[in-house]
Amino acid sequence: MAKNKILVTAALPYANGPIHLGHLAGAYLPADIYVRYQRLRGTDIIFICGSDEHGVPITITADNEKVSPEVIIDRYHAINKQSFEKFGMSFDIYSRTSHPIHHKTAAEFFLDYYNSGLLVEKKSLQFYDTSRQMFLPDRYVEGTCPRCGNENARSDECENCGALYDPSELIDPVSKISGQRPELKETSHWFFPFGKFQERLESYIAEMDEKYGWKDNVLQYCKGWFSAGLQDRAITRDLDWGVKVPIPGFENKVLYVWFEAVLGYISATKELFKQRGEEETWRDYWQDPETKYVAFIGKDNIVFHALIFPAMLMAWNDLHSDDENFVLPQNIPANEFLNFEGKKFSKSRKWGIDVIDFLSHFKADSLRYTLTMNLPEYRDTDFSWKDFQAKHNNELADILGNFVNRTFTFIHKNFEGKVPALYTLSTRDEELLNQLEGYPQKIADLFEEYRFKDATLEIMNLARAGNKYFNDSEPWKTLKNDREKCSTTLHLCLQTIYTLGLLFMPVLPKSSEKILKMLGKRSVEWLHAGKLNLVEGESLGQPEILFRKIEDETIEEMKRKTAPEAEEEADFEKIDPISIDQFFETDLRVAQIVEAERVKKSEKLIKVQVSFGKERRQVIAGLGKAYEPEELIGKKVIVVANLKPAKLMGLESHGMMLAVDTPDGGLKVVEIDQSVNNGTKVR
Ligand code: 2FM
Ligand code: ZN
Repeated sequence: MAKNKILVTAALPYANGPIHLGHLAGAYLPADIYVRYQRLRGTDIIFICGSDEHGVPITITADNEKVSPEVIIDRYHAINKQSFEKFGMSFDIYSRTSHPIHHKTAAEFFLDYYNSGLLVEKKSLQFYDTSRQMFLPDRYVEGTCPRCGNENARSDECENCGALYDPSELIDPVSKISGQRPELKETSHWFFPFGKFQERLESYIAEMDEKYGWKDNVLQYCKGWFSAGLQDRAITRDLDWGVKVPIPGFENKVLYVWFEAVLGYISATKELFKQRGEEETWRDYWQDPETKYVAFIGKDNIVFHALIFPAMLMAWNDLHSDDENFVLPQNIPANEFLNFEGKKFSKSRKWGIDVIDFLSHFKADSLRYTLTMNLPEYRDTDFSWKDFQAKHNNELADILGNFVNRTFTFIHKNFEGKVPALYTLSTRDEELLNQLEGYPQKIADLFEEYRFKDATLEIMNLARAGNKYFNDSEPWKTLKNDREKCSTTLHLCLQTIYTLGLLFMPVLPKSSEKILKMLGKRSVEWLHAGKLNLVEGESLGQPEILFRKIEDETIEEMKRKTAPEAEEEADFEKIDPISIDQFFETDLRVAQIVEAERVKKSEKLIKVQVSFGKERRQVIAGLGKAYEPEELIGKKVIVVANLKPAKLMGLESHGMMLAVDTPDGGLKVVEIDQSVNNGTKVR
């Protein structure tokens, strides 16, 4: 089999929500830079990714929306696939774990372990919702913590005090699905004996680290797990969404999502080669000991990729002949987290910006550059709008864009748009040439070491050096008094631009393509970088502006759009505290809107009659821009009931309805469930 093959996988994101910039910086961008770099070198490499479409969070989202899990996964698979495409990810395949090939592959692994007697069956008590006839996963049960009294504790774990307990100890358990009290019922699961693999995992990681230098964060994490001791883990669950457990008596159970998700990399590779009409070729990557396998992930996935997946592959390899043995990851360059304006990205708090939205405003390369320069390779880092603007304007536009633009404009104006000739070299010219020659190796070394940020910083330094050379050589002067020198300067600037186009290709694929097009469609191979490839007299393409500056107003607008919660939280800190008694001075009551009509000559005001049960009152509400009066009728709202009556446009208003601002500048009344009686006190 051929040598020098590389298999690259990037974590399969859950199809449970849109990916954000943090995901891109954590795993996907570094993986893409690495793969694009290897392709430029001519390496035989495949790049695998896809959606992780099982697991409890997906079923919870589906339940909340009252749709099937398929609706959720189809939605987010499509969104995430599109986000990745817009961002310029160059996967060979973006598969999904709902694919039949995956179900088959995962079942095959499970059966292999099962048939060999490796798996252990264990019985345990688990909450069961009798009204829905289903076992409840931990997150579906809530109750009071037996240790600290926290009322929102999970079935076997309290987030408030950190206690772990037996589900039978949870006080007043409630099923989140039906709201009923669940029963404890015996269930049986299959466990994978990870403990048995601890020693081999320890030597595997030590060996890989010694040979290939693993990142500290990954090693530290594994050390922590080893010192706690690896335990047996249940690899089946009582759920109906997932890969069915392929043994009789277990039809109502599925494989634990992490057990099968990691196998998704293998399934996706099978699918890729099936599409290419070479069904068996996946083995050339997974089952050839010469393949180098690199798994790109974020730090939250370390245990699954550095311990669980390798143990699963070891277990398979124990049961099969050498030619069917799988390769284990040779490296797992996991990143830390990227924050957004100083805080963690959060879907529920709407903190952050989704990728499609971002890329409808800005170019993918601008984002790729900023994220690369901010990669959380060693510690958590931050994305801020100001920094994005600065990196785009001061580096991409002012350094790279400017160097390319001034060179091409000069040549089109003074050298008929053709590569100028090279004459005798001055010391300054030689200095630039020396620098140029050393670059490809320096950058290659950094890419090979997964130091993408340093590599990119260095490439930008070459563009800086190009600008400085242009300035030092003063071609606008030599054009008049030493045309040969001028020609040499521009020749060398062009050669530098060619190398920049090649070196930047993995990080800025679109801009690099443009550069190469301006140079007249050159071959795109790493081996040409650092050399003098352009020949005197060759015609050049038309110059194109690579990066236009991003205005302050645009950034301010994006800040406002993407961080509504930030402003509210900032305000929050300024609030003076009040006592509980002061709070109770406000009498808040549930009331139902029974009549509503517009106040004449007012755009904003609506005259509303609210009922507290026996009592009725008139309230003049400023909801006219947000609602048609008829939309309000029937709603149960909260009214400040002990407010002194006031007059608004000559009409009496007795009370005030609670309402909130929406991020788009609108207004919404606070609504209460219809089951609550009118007049009920809010407390
Ligand atoms: O963290 C996540 O988004 C997981 N879905 C990653 C899975 S990676 C692999 F196991 F497939
Ligand atoms: Zn507790």
